[in-house]
Amino acid sequence: MPEPQLLEQLVEQARPLLGRGKVADYIPALAKISGNKLGIAVTTPDGVTIGAGDYLEPFSIQSISKVFSLTLALTLYEEPEIWDRVGKEPSGHSFNSLVQVELERGIPRNPFINAGALVIADLLQGRLSAPKHRMLELVRNLSGNPQICYDKEVARSEYEHSARNAAIAYLMKSFGNFDNDVDTVLRSYFHYCALRMSCADLSRAMMYLANKGQSLAGKQLISPVQARQLNALLATSGLYDGAGEFAYKVGMPGKSGVGGGIIAVIPGDMSVCVWSPELDLQGNSVAGTAILEGLSQSLGRSIF
Ligand code: DON
Repeated sequence: MPEPQLLEQLVEQARPLLGRGKVADYIPALAKISGNKLGIAVTTPDGVTIGAGDYLEPFSIQSISKVFSLTLALTLYEEPEIWDRVGKEPSGHSFNSLVQVELERGIPRNPFINAGALVIADLLQGRLSAPKHRMLELVRNLSGNPQICYDKEVARSEYEHSARNAAIAYLMKSFGNFDNDVDTVLRSYFHYCALRMSCADLSRAMMYLANKGQSLAGKQLISPVQARQLNALLATSGLYDGAGEFAYKVGMPGKSGVGGGIIAVIPGDMSVCVWSPELDLQGNSVAGTAILEGLSQSLGRSIF
């Protein structure tokens, strides 16, 4: 466990980076957030969480939800039912790109780009009678925080600007890789993205990735092998076309969201969440990445 002073120091060291990135504005409700938020929380397998900066303030988790969706799908389906429909390779394209979906006949490269996450949302829709309710229950249980909610305004704003995601989903449907009604699945997907959680909530919720599939409450959510495999996918695709740079700088499996959050884990040791809303060109938090880089350097830790 890092010292609390180290976390304070890392936050202060990243502060001069504010102003270098851009808050996401393609979802209008997200553009309202102040860019100068900075937070980090770290949780260890014994359940202790420490943090610095704005680590208790809830924010829009956006694509970080794709980790929870895939996890939920792994609990509901046999693996081939998932991996026949979505790949395990880095895309090298932006997270909301359409071109590869067309070229590769409706099979998305991985479950973290929007196309892949939409296929996973389609799978959840196919097997759950109330997928939004089930997702909320999952994140509340994993983090131990029953207050976690959907931000209805963000979900609505995404729905009102859903042309690109709708295009991706319909393109996949044209190739036979989308079972349910597109509009229904989009609504569920936007809700997952609109979950509001703090760095503390997220670092606690992600402990199962650092603890062989076991949640903080002691539930075996996925098997140890599945947790290892999920971490491999996060290390290769969790930061989209920025995954190589992130692996080079930070050296941890991670997942970013356009709300400015990034979760990362050191298996066996800790789960971490950072938050700062200004993003780089790949849609990943600028100051958040710097804080994680500082953490891995200070602790001398990396999975590589
Ligand atoms: O579908 C979208 O575009 C957003 N709800 C999520 C994108 C996202 O967070 C990408 N991550 N950096």
